[in-house]
Amino acid sequence: MSFVSDAPSDESPESPRATDGSAPKPQETSRRALTLAICAGTCAIAAASAIPAAAFVAAPLGAGAGSGRWVRTVKLGELTPGQAKRVAIVSDRRDAWTVERGVELGSVWLLRNGDDVTAFSAVCPHLGCSVNAAPEAGGFACPCHTSAFGSDGKRKSGPSPRDLDTLATRIEDGFVAVEFRRFRIGVPEKVET
Ligand code: FES
Repeated sequence: MSFVSDAPSDESPESPRATDGSAPKPQETSRRALTLAICAGTCAIAAASAIPAAAFVAAPLGAGAGSGRWVRTVKLGELTPGQAKRVAIVSDRRDAWTVERGVELGSVWLLRNGDDVTAFSAVCPHLGCSVNAAPEAGGFACPCHTSAFGSDGKRKSGPSPRDLDTLATRIEDGFVAVEFRRFRIGVPEKVET
């Protein structure tokens, strides 16, 4: 079995030679090897430090973050069972390259049942108006085109093409956290934007 190597041999034309054509002295060979080793080490360190820096500069802030984000709202104890409460969703807003701190991204309706909390998006699925609580009607209502929804978010009447959009919730250190998302309006399916 034989091997083919791309490495130049000591006898290759690239091998350094003394000006008089004689073979390099042992001291010259070791000095050259040391110089190459230092250069290789320096280049490796420079490359290792450059890669994360380049990734930081090149990657947009929102990249890979996903559209849903968990946001803490009020304490569970602030919710009265059976009584819907509207809360603002305040978090950082990110676009491709910037972050704005503490921006109101939207609002949701929270409805407590024991230790469980249901969250409804306050955006009407019809054309995006803000939905109000309508306790006298036993649910929610949109003032724009009079869509009505039950306390479970089910569509009762009006032009809304679907029920109110629900959002995931969980309790974090006594606070109600909501996984905030946005959905397409004007379509029967609940499709995230
Ligand atoms: S936007 Fe709500 S009913 Fe039209």
